[in-house]
Amino acid sequence: MTHAAITGWGKCLPPAVLSNGDLAKILDTSDEWIVSRTGIRERRISHVGLEELAYVAAMRALAAAGMAGRDVELIVFGTCSHDDQVPNMASGIQARIGAQPAAAYDINTACTSFLYGLSTATALIRTGVVRNALVIGAEFISPFMDWSDRDVAVLFGDGAAAVVLEASERQEGVLAEKLGCFGEAPEILRVQGMGGRYANHGILYGVTRWQFEGQEIFKRAVAGMASACDASLGRLGLDASSVELVVPHQANLRIIEAVARRVRVPMERVYVNIQRYGNMSAATVAVALCEAVEEGRVRPGALLLLPGFGGGLSYCAQVIRWGERTEPRGRSSAELAPCTRSALELIEECRARKCAPRPHTGTEPFAGL
Ligand code: UT7
Repeated sequence: MTHAAITGWGKCLPPAVLSNGDLAKILDTSDEWIVSRTGIRERRISHVGLEELAYVAAMRALAAAGMAGRDVELIVFGTCSHDDQVPNMASGIQARIGAQPAAAYDINTACTSFLYGLSTATALIRTGVVRNALVIGAEFISPFMDWSDRDVAVLFGDGAAAVVLEASERQEGVLAEKLGCFGEAPEILRVQGMGGRYANHGILYGVTRWQFEGQEIFKRAVAGMASACDASLGRLGLDASSVELVVPHQANLRIIEAVARRVRVPMERVYVNIQRYGNMSAATVAVALCEAVEEGRVRPGALLLLPGFGGGLSYCAQVIRWGERTEPRGRSSAELAPCTRSALELIEECRARKCAPRPHTGTEPFAGL
């Protein structure tokens, strides 16, 4: 049977750091509240658009795999914060990395988009449709954030990461997964303002209202991730004792701890980086996986478990066998343009743009956008 081994990995975190202390300057919140309720200490705010973040991550993943962009056969771009809906994000990456005529599609299951992308790309490799794939998880959430809403503004950050999958006869890559969704309660995590429903209602793009019932999300997140872990391991006749490292979605440290308890994995075998980045939605597990490898937490041949949940409420868990190589084959010189503004300045610009009156001249309403 053909498998889809992970042969390259790369991440791109924008440099501007927004600390809890920074947030306390613009919101009625505190470092103590945010750390004790979520585990988050800081997050990144991007000074460039989504495609740029994803492109740098993609180039680093390709270099780690030793693969040229022209050899990529499929690009799957997981995100919910598209630069544009049409054309999709994946086609922009295809052009930037020189992968014509690779297949290129976006996938949006909110925070689980990277993991769903990993599963769909793996399926296309297993069935012989393509021989390799570049799977990206990237988000530029800060322009869509309601920076006056302390319930959500403290939780999220921007970032990107990517992996390269290649057909392999060895039992590597995603070995089993469980994908699911609790679709019956969409109102508990809904970002109003990001879709066609709002078109022609005078709502400026980027102006959002977050419907967010934290405790309801919390309960379903734990239930969904824990059941998906059991189901995916069960498909292989395994239990959590075989898992060397859990690399979970990082939305709240307390959610991660609750899932670890439910699946009976000690926290020493759980990778946590939420303190540095907060919740980067689709980029979260992708970045965590890259960092776990970079920090030597992933041994050659290790069995990994990747549980996630997101808006929808989608949930999933992937069981992954890492390959023998934990060192990148090469390094890319791709870098973001330098950032000259602080994270607070970037947020302030973003707020000012949303409030600024946009005179529609009738000739070119989107000039400069
Ligand atoms: O990937 C999907 C994204 N969604 C999530 O990850 C959300 C999952 N849920 C959570 O992470 C948690 O439910 C939260 C972190 C969102 C909230 O934690 P909580 O322990 O459930 O707090 P709470 O909602 O019960 O709020 C407790 C108090 C409230 O005040 P009162 O009513 O007790 O007076 C809130 O108004 O904390 C208040 N509060 C804050 N205080 C300071 C809410 N947000 C903040 C804040 N700073 N940022």
